[in-house]
Amino acid sequence: MTSPLRWHDAMERALYGPDGFFVSGAGPAAHFRTSVHASPVFAACLARQLEMVDAALGHPARLDVVDVGAGRGELLRALLAQAAPELAARIHLVAVERSARPPDLPPEIDWRADIPDGITGLLLATEWLDNVPVDVAVHTPAGWRLLLVDPATGQETVGPPPSPTDTTWLTHWWPPNPTPAPTKVIKEFVAAEGSDQDTNSFINAVGEGKGGVGGRAEIGWSRDLAWAEAVGRVARGLALAVDYGHLRESRPVDGTLTGYRGGRQVPPVPDGSCDVTAHVAMDSVASAGERVARCAYSLVSQREALRALGADGGRPPLSLASRDPAGYLRALATASAAAELTDPAGLGGHLWLRQPVGVALDAVVAR
Ligand SMILES: C[S@@+](CC[C@H](N)C(=O)[O-])C[C@H]1O[C@@H](n2cnc3c(N)ncnc32)[C@H](O)[C@@H]1O
Repeated sequence: MTSPLRWHDAMERALYGPDGFFVSGAGPAAHFRTSVHASPVFAACLARQLEMVDAALGHPARLDVVDVGAGRGELLRALLAQAAPELAARIHLVAVERSARPPDLPPEIDWRADIPDGITGLLLATEWLDNVPVDVAVHTPAGWRLLLVDPATGQETVGPPPSPTDTTWLTHWWPPNPTPAPTKVIKEFVAAEGSDQDTNSFINAVGEGKGGVGGRAEIGWSRDLAWAEAVGRVARGLALAVDYGHLRESRPVDGTLTGYRGGRQVPPVPDGSCDVTAHVAMDSVASAGERVARCAYSLVSQREALRALGADGGRPPLSLASRDPAGYLRALATASAAAELTDPAGLGGHLWLRQPVGVALDAVVAR
């Protein structure tokens, strides 16, 4: 057994350390499917979003497009390919990534490790925040405690109480769930604390009326800070985060920490062999960004956002099949791609956080 680590540190090392999953492997697309990889319809909608931002900014001589957590630059490549010549002459594309620049990246795309300052344009963050490391807490009979993890095996043990910053965040953003759920790690904790009662009855007695014992929470303030910093780099324009997430009134009882490898969901063992990810507390992130931007934001489902930007999951009319068979097949393919991106039980359930900076919300949000 290796020494147990806080989940934040274990994630940091597993994803971004010397042999980290994101910096040494084949890249995210080899292991899981994001909206960017699912279909060019996603980039087409973002191209429309970019046009709105451009118009709201009065068509500046240089329009920045900064993709934070850019993977291998897939989204920026697609935006570059779709840009009309007039726009292509003005856009300045920047990928912000912790992994190395791909050798085949077009020279028009800059590649850097940190977010540039003074952005005038669009800052994108698609499935970035879920990979910003977090600590994980479990609700014990003694209150919240951090979970520690063995990086080699993923085995968890109950660790010290959370810091005051953690506790403030948990109190405000992730109240304990009301249903006791004594998981294995809690039973071990209670046994180690030396209760002479039967473990389950002890947990239930202590947990009753105090919020459920055993519920887990991913402590999201590190994501709030990351987003606030990103929004702070925008001088004028729109910061857009797209991610799977949840809101305060419906936090998942047992958290969402999980792993992905080779297209499959796997246990989150932080040994560098798989992605380790947790859904994002998007309302908390939104609130942190709003404090920096001092502009109202919009938070809606991807389904709603993409439909407003013209993604239509409806089938083309059958009459088109006889008039223009090839056109019908193209329209059918586009419709099924849009249907995948807007499926409320899948990618369509992701959340779009649109944070304007120095421009009116209505000018940059399609309705
Ligand atoms: C899940 S992938 C998403 C890739 C792409 N945006 C997409 O939607 O397909 C997350 C990416 O964020 C990158 N990343 C995480 N934290 C970062 C940071 N602080 N700065 C730059 N890149 C980061 C990772 O290296 C990884 O490539």
